[in-house]
Amino acid sequence: MASTLESQDSGIVLGIESTAHTFSIGWVDGSGEPSPSVSASVTPKEGGIHPREAADHHVDNSGEIVQRVLSSPEFDTADISAVAFSQGPGLGPCLRVGASVARALAQRLEVPLVGVNHCVAHIEIGRQQCGSNDPVLLYVSGGNTQVISRLSGRYRVLGETLDIGIGNMLDKFARNHDIPFPGGPRIETLAEQWLQNNPGASLDGLELPYAVQGMDLAFSGIMTSALKLVDGGAPLDAVCWSLQEHSFAACVEVAERALAHTGKRELLLGGGVACNERLRSMCASMASERGGVSHVPARGYCIDNGSMIATLGRLQLLHGVTTSLSASGVRQDLRTDETDILWV
Ligand code: ATP
Ligand code: FE2
Repeated sequence: MASTLESQDSGIVLGIESTAHTFSIGWVDGSGEPSPSVSASVTPKEGGIHPREAADHHVDNSGEIVQRVLSSPEFDTADISAVAFSQGPGLGPCLRVGASVARALAQRLEVPLVGVNHCVAHIEIGRQQCGSNDPVLLYVSGGNTQVISRLSGRYRVLGETLDIGIGNMLDKFARNHDIPFPGGPRIETLAEQWLQNNPGASLDGLELPYAVQGMDLAFSGIMTSALKLVDGGAPLDAVCWSLQEHSFAACVEVAERALAHTGKRELLLGGGVACNERLRSMCASMASERGGVSHVPARGYCIDNGSMIATLGRLQLLHGVTTSLSASGVRQDLRTDETDILWV
């Protein structure tokens, strides 16, 4: 149940996202209802995301996106009460573009600036969209893989990747086979294709190393072994399937242990990899076998988007947590558990 503060009319809050590949602006109305964001994403011709090239992309696209949002027929700019932005974590040059646009807009509109934690924003849009109160969170994106639970006013990281994020692992594997960024969706399609052509397929001969270490995870070993399988002659679509089965099973196992330890019954997925249908169904089966439930927001709210930044920005605004110009520097290494959760 929303507290009195959270149900107050906040006015329109804008949210600016620019942590990595996407520059996006979204907004929430006075009751916190988000609208789909206006976004532009960089798609490198070769290699991974280069921070400065991505930042140039954001600079090139930000003017038009700001214009499109401010001329939206859905609200009057006079009703904007705050401008929120991703303060971290992320790639420095990319973060700085979003922060500059946010400072300029907040000054021009004469409204407060609200710096928010990108990881916490993934969580809050999911809670808001799915009506989930106190879940265990499985946050699976390009740069992050964390299992999180709220305790004493902070989102605590119970387990996380010790090397690369699961999305980065999928993107790197894909890149090695000339699949452009983002590789995750294409790996999903290839895995589905393999299963359709080979109903009842077995993982015999396609085994990959285990990625769980206590409550933590690791994905570089699994990626190297998957690359070796293809080099050894295994079909690419079969290896995509195996890679999903093994890496997702590792995440689901840690999430299940977190549910067991905390006694919570709800799982909530967030981050770009939560778009994946196979991961969604594995989580749903695990939760229902335990008598619980697994939630996942619509895809547009899993992938990086400005609306999630606006959602968290509104909560902070209502709780008086705004950001002065002098404190608005970006924080590349901001951690999930550094942000006070005052609204639950
Ligand atoms: P963060 O800063 O939270 O780590 P991010 O920069 O990685 O965010 P997101 O938009 O949250 O950005 O996630 C992007 C990742 O999601 C990419 O690695 C991409 O391959 C992956 N992804 C997107 N769709 C799918 C899918 N259907 N299956 C698997 N992975 C996917
Ligand atoms: Fe993200």
